[in-house]
Amino acid sequence: MDSIYDFGKAKQKNRKISMVTCYDFWSAKIIDASQIDCVLVGDSLAMVMHGFESTLHATTEMMALHASAVCRGTSKFVVVDMPFLSYRKGVAQAIDHVQTLMHSGAKAIKLEGVTGHEDVIQHIVHSGVPVMGHIGLTPQSIHQIGGFRVQGKNEESAKILLQEAQTLEELGCFAIVLECVPSHVADEITKKLQIPTIGIGAGIETDGQVLVLQDLLGMDDQFRPKFLKHYLAGKTHLSSALNQFDTEVKERIFPSKKESYS
Ligand code: KIV
Ligand code: NA
Repeated sequence: MDSIYDFGKAKQKNRKISMVTCYDFWSAKIIDASQIDCVLVGDSLAMVMHGFESTLHATTEMMALHASAVCRGTSKFVVVDMPFLSYRKGVAQAIDHVQTLMHSGAKAIKLEGVTGHEDVIQHIVHSGVPVMGHIGLTPQSIHQIGGFRVQGKNEESAKILLQEAQTLEELGCFAIVLECVPSHVADEITKKLQIPTIGIGAGIETDGQVLVLQDLLGMDDQFRPKFLKHYLAGKTHLSSALNQFDTEVKERIFPSKKESYS
């Protein structure tokens, strides 16, 4: 993915899009050398990298700091999340946040929801900054939603989701993340939109899939929501490497002559 046009082309050619989150330089280099299509500096970094309880604690300064580290490690298409409330204080303030985020080297921004900030989305797009939408489970609204749960389960809320998706397309978004929605709802949205949908917990039919890097690498062996697959027993592998180092230090195996200067 070099530009937003490659997202549209992927959908036209029925070629699935892979996206992973990334928050730092060293994992950006690993992703850069992989086949992954594009990278998201998600506000989930507040939880994954900083240990906060929710994404509400991410700030534009945090997002920009992590995004610039990521952009130094990869030339892939990088999208950066606008953090909590940064696009809810009017157009002028939102554009200031967008400016800071784009100076990190990202090629697009992502923001959650649509109602009440349609004008902001349109203004960002008209300012030349690609916007990725995000509907369904929107973690910045966690206290309004009342917990991490599947959205669009009844007919009424499914209809609202479809309307939101169509509005985002009309406002000029180049792609939309669908988070934790029933497969048939994601399927209908995907079929009705020209722009690609990228799912997380949204079933098989979305045009792409996104996962948090640490989740897919199994860095937390306890975190096993239904939508997730661990592609590596990351925690086990890292723990055993650390314990091996510890043992070798204590048993005077490391360093040996090989790792010592003469
Ligand atoms: O912040 C994030 O990691 C995200 C993805 C889950 C889509 O927004
Ligand atoms: Na996010």
